Amino acid sequence: MKDKRTVLVVDDEAAMRKNINDLLGREGYRVAEAGDGAEGLRAFRELTPALVLLDINLPKMDGISVLGEMKRLNADVPVIVFTAYGTSERAIMAMKAGAYDYLDKPFDLDEFLLTVKRAVGYGDLLREVRQLRSRVSQDPPLAVTDSIIGAGPRMQEVFKQIGRAAPTDTTVLIQGESGTGKELIAQAIQRHSLRKDRPFIIVNCGGLTETLLESELFGHEKGAFTGAVARREGRFEVANGGTVFLDEINNMPMSLQMKLLRVLQQRTYERVGGNETLTTDVRIIAATNSDIEQDVRSGRIREDLFYRLNVIHIRVPALRERAEDIPPLITHFCKKYSPDGKIVVSPEVVAKLSAYHWPGNVRELENIIQRMIVMAQGNVITTDYLPITVSAAPPLASAAAPADERSFRDQVRDFERSVIAVALRRTAGNQSRAAELLRMSRRLLFEKIKLYNIRSDQK
Ligand SMILES: Nc1ncnc2c1ncn2[C@@H]1O[C@H](COP(=O)(O)OP(=O)(O)OP(=O)(O)O)[C@@H](O)[C@H]1O
Ligand SMILES: [Mg+2]
Repeated sequence: MKDKRTVLVVDDEAAMRKNINDLLGREGYRVAEAGDGAEGLRAFRELTPALVLLDINLPKMDGISVLGEMKRLNADVPVIVFTAYGTSERAIMAMKAGAYDYLDKPFDLDEFLLTVKRAVGYGDLLREVRQLRSRVSQDPPLAVTDSIIGAGPRMQEVFKQIGRAAPTDTTVLIQGESGTGKELIAQAIQRHSLRKDRPFIIVNCGGLTETLLESELFGHEKGAFTGAVARREGRFEVANGGTVFLDEINNMPMSLQMKLLRVLQQRTYERVGGNETLTTDVRIIAATNSDIEQDVRSGRIREDLFYRLNVIHIRVPALRERAEDIPPLITHFCKKYSPDGKIVVSPEVVAKLSAYHWPGNVRELENIIQRMIVMAQGNVITTDYLPITVSAAPPLASAAAPADERSFRDQVRDFERSVIAVALRRTAGNQSRAAELLRMSRRLLFEKIKLYNIRSDQK
C-alpha cells in the first residue's frame, strides 16, 4: 500500500482551507494547512508534499515569492496557484515562476479535482525520471528500467503532457518520427493512469492484412472466415477496463476506421461473423510516424476519426531537435548494456554522437551504443568504434543548414572523401583493411583515393 499523498494548502482564509481539507480528505489525500507564506515554506520543507495549493494573495510574504522559494527548494513538487480576481497578469507571473497550473477562485469543483489529480500524476512522473537519472549517474550499477530519459525542455514539455493526459480517460494521439519513443510514452501514460493495473494491449495496425487486423481488434466467431476454427476474443474484449495502444494508426484500412470510430463514440462493436453487439470500456492511445493531418487531407484517414483520436496530441520531437538529451541517453544505454555497468564512452564519442543527425532517433542511438559495447575492449569506448555513418557525417549544423549551395555532385564527393579518410585513419592507412571496413573492392578504393587525392598517412 502506498502512503497517502500529502497536499499542502497555503491560504489565509481558514474557511477555504477547511473546505479543501474536507474535499481532498474524501478523495483519499492527507491535507496539511498553512495560513501564511512563512508557515507554508516551513511545512513544505518538513513534509515534501506531493502537491501544493497556494493562494497568490497572502499577507506578509507575497504568493509569488513563496512559489519561487518552493521551486528553489524542490522543483519537482507541482504547485497549483489560486488567483482571486481572475487577473491574467498574476496568473502569467505565477506560470512563469513555475506554477503547474492556476485556478480562479471560486473554482469549479470538478475542474479542481481533475487539476489536482493531474498535478500529482505529473509530480510522480518527474520524480521517476529524476530518480532514474540520479541512479544512472551513481556508481553501483542497477537494473535500469525502461523509463524515459529527457533532460531538455522539449522532453520536459512532453512529460508535462503525459502527466496531464494520464489520469484522464481521454484518447491520446502520439506523433513522432520512427524511434522517438512513442511506445515508451504510451506505456508511461498507462502507468500513470487510473487503469494502470488493467491490461495494456498493443496492436500494430500496419503489420496485418485487413481481415486479420479486424479479427485481431474485434475478435471473430467460429467459421467467420477460412481458418477461423474457433471463436476468438478480440483485443478490445481482452483489454476491457484497460488501454489499447494502436500503433501505426495511419495504416488502418478505411473499412476498419469506421468500426473504430464506433468504438470511440459508442463503445460498441461486433465480432467478425457475429451478430451480438458487444460493449467495451477501453482507453485508446494511438501513434503514428506519419504527418497525420496530411493523411486526413489525402483521404487516407477519416476526418471524424482523426478528431476523435486527436483529443490530446503529443508531438515527440526528433532526437536531432533535442541534442541536449543525447549525453544522458548515452549514459543510460551504457548502463543498460554494459555487463557490469562500468563501460563509458569517451568525450570525443559523446561529441560525435551529439553532432549526428539521427535519422533513426533514439532507437538508432541505442543500437549503436549496444553494438559498440559488444565490440569494445576495455572500459572506455573511443571514436574507433563509432560506425562510419556517424564518424564521417558532417556536423549537425551544416546538415541542418538550409539548402547547401553546392551541387549534388560536389556534396557527394565531399562525403565520399570524408568516409574514406576516416576509414584510412582508423586502419592506420592500411588500404586493404579500409576496403574491408567499407565493404568495397580494393580497386574502387584505390581509384577513389587517387581521384580525391587522399593521403593515406593522414592521422
Ligand atoms: N527518451 C527515451 N529514453 C530512453 N529510451 C528511449 C527513449 N526514447 C526511446 N527510447 C528507446 O528507443 C527505442 C525505440 O523507442 P519506441 O519503440 O518507443 O519508439 P517508437 O517511436 O515507437 O518507434 P517506431 O515509430 O519505430 O515504432 C526503445 O528501445 C526505447 O526504449
Ligand atoms: Mg513504436
